[in-house]
Amino acid sequence: MRRFLIAGNWKMNTTRHSGVALAGELAAVVPQAETGVEVLVCPPYPYLLAVGEALVGSAVHLGAQDAYFEAPGAFTGEVAVDMLRDCGCRYVILGHSERRHVMGETDAIINRKVRAAVGGGLAAVLCVGELLSERQSGQTEEVLDRQMEGGLAGVSEAEAAQVVIAYEPVWAIGTGVTATPEQAESAHEHLRKWLARRYTPAFSEKVRILYGGSVKADNAETLLGQPNVDGALVGGASLKASTFVPIIEAARKLSA
Ligand code: 13P
Repeated sequence: MRRFLIAGNWKMNTTRHSGVALAGELAAVVPQAETGVEVLVCPPYPYLLAVGEALVGSAVHLGAQDAYFEAPGAFTGEVAVDMLRDCGCRYVILGHSERRHVMGETDAIINRKVRAAVGGGLAAVLCVGELLSERQSGQTEEVLDRQMEGGLAGVSEAEAAQVVIAYEPVWAIGTGVTATPEQAESAHEHLRKWLARRYTPAFSEKVRILYGGSVKADNAETLLGQPNVDGALVGGASLKASTFVPIIEAARKLSA
């Protein structure tokens, strides 16, 4: 049985003060004894240490929003996997649509990052998802296949055990338009079949596939109730405990 992962991607939001306060509120409702649901927050780089301290004593994990693929060295402005681990990160989000479409990251770059992360002891949340125009022209599955093939090229089954997939249709990110449960389930089922072909059917059953794109308290339970939806990658609604905690609670209810 796959354990739900509810992850907050804070993107380029919060201040040191508001991030620490939010982490403190989450720590208070996710005690160390939390078993049914895994909770993760991914603050901006400068706040990782302070947020990590605020999470001590809770079961909330810390993650980063990106990482560079090279070992520490002369790469101005970049952050290495080792540094993220040193700051207490367990996860790193890679290939987010904003990195793909705003920063121009290619599948080849994302693949190097995935391999560096899993090789360096971080779990990777590999994001995939189609643009609205790609969905409208019937290319969704082709796009997902290409991003999976690119992102996981050269990644062994043992390494892929440290990978979580996040399906984030670009048209649903920050738009308030959520994929219907049927659209999400269909994409997730397709991704799991891809994993079964690329690795083995047994392995594909163990991989968690999160949905992201306008997840809110009022749609979380239906989305998480789909057989192949194993959690959520939440943007806007992860920025306040009052909107994020109900999503954790929806997952708790379903896993009880
Ligand atoms: P929103 O929840 O704000 O749509 O963002 C989704 C997302 O991009 C999470 O990574």
